[in-house]
Amino acid sequence: MARFHIEGGHKLSGSVTPSGNKNEALPTLMACLLTDQPITFKRMPKIGDVMTTCDVLADLGVSVKWEDHDTVTLCAKNAKYKKPDPELCSRIRASVLLLGPMLARFGKVELALPGGDVIGARRIDTHWEGIEALGGKLHLNNAIVGEIKTIRGTDVYLDEPSVTGTENLLLLAVKCQGTATLHNAASEPHVVGLCNLLNTMGAKISGIGSNRLTIEGVKTLNGATHTIGPDFMEVGSFLCLGAIAGGKITVEKTRPEELGFILKTLARIGIVPEIKGDKITIDGTKPLVMKKDIGGRIGTIYSGPWPAYPTDLMSVAIVAATQSQGTTIFFEKMFEGRMFFTDKLMQMGANIVLCDPHRIVVNGPSKLYAARLNSPDVRAGMSLIMAALVAEGTSVIDNIYQVERGYFDIENKLKALGAKIIRGD
Ligand code: EPU
Repeated sequence: MARFHIEGGHKLSGSVTPSGNKNEALPTLMACLLTDQPITFKRMPKIGDVMTTCDVLADLGVSVKWEDHDTVTLCAKNAKYKKPDPELCSRIRASVLLLGPMLARFGKVELALPGGDVIGARRIDTHWEGIEALGGKLHLNNAIVGEIKTIRGTDVYLDEPSVTGTENLLLLAVKCQGTATLHNAASEPHVVGLCNLLNTMGAKISGIGSNRLTIEGVKTLNGATHTIGPDFMEVGSFLCLGAIAGGKITVEKTRPEELGFILKTLARIGIVPEIKGDKITIDGTKPLVMKKDIGGRIGTIYSGPWPAYPTDLMSVAIVAATQSQGTTIFFEKMFEGRMFFTDKLMQMGANIVLCDPHRIVVNGPSKLYAARLNSPDVRAGMSLIMAALVAEGTSVIDNIYQVERGYFDIENKLKALGAKIIRGD
């Protein structure tokens, strides 16, 4: 199993460009099943989860042609109904995104339960109830088995603003009879990206970017060319890293307009970058200080559905907080398993109290020391790399496939900033 050896304590400086957003890449790839015409994707990150999704689709008969490192064309003209490969599906959470497009295309689906990060229960009730509201019939044995005769245009009230739940319902409702309205929909930039692709293909979705999406059903959809948005999780990760790595890091080709709540939240641990056009620079030579609430009370950083601070950026902010002066509570409202990786930061010397599965208190700054580490999920993996980069000594991070599932070419991006990181077996 590949691992990283990271010698910590070197200043990191320079520029980095984020790759395409993983969580936009995965649902938009699935959209190819809705048309017989080709869809070309630009800025497609060639990461583990994307490659597995392409393999799942290829197994269904979809042609997948990479033109260069980040352009790929998929064509589902010859796609045939079959049960998607259970082994491939069990590797990624995003395999659940086959439910909507397979029902839309074939009228039936049999799907192994999805895999993915070990960060919590990851319920699928929102997908399930929404598909049934649109006219589907589902049941569960050791797979999800479903069929749909007519995709009904109707009001759907999502149980919670689930990201993949909203995406699945969009991927089905675009072909509904009449008009479907998704209430309490997710509105993350990746959901917006999927809506934009679907509209380019000929769908009629309005309310994009809000939590109420109205979808006028269409009979056929066409091919398209789509550019995946820059990964704001990667942008946030490099800002947190830049803040603690002693130099100046500029993140280029970003969309600062998407980062409002993220920047507001990072400011609570003292991270205040400078924005010029689409470039964001963070000066890590300045000491970080955590912001107190009015009256001097300890502040809280909490995650929530967009536009609140994304759960996927909690882990990197926690590492940054270990290097910031003061105390902050982190309240992870979404996943009940995401905070457990902090025991590894404590092992490295961080002063953290794990209060319960959703809450920790970070007291900083702490000197971190190298350790042998492995990661339960993609975001914790990036966070442990960050911790290793600022720690004294050489750390080993064992299961780096977890990070490479979500961060494209992370090793070379870090090397270009001056990191001493070596891949080993
Ligand atoms: N949740 C709430 N309240 C809400 C909405 C959700 O508590 O209002 C909880 C859910 O109960 C669940 C969790 O939050 O436990 C996440 O729910 P969701 O269904 O939105 O997650 P998902 O669609 O399975 C996607 C991303 C995740 C990301 C979440 C939340 C993809 C393929 N995955 O998962 O990405 O954490 O949305 O933003 O899009 C990652 O990239 O590292 C990753 C895990």
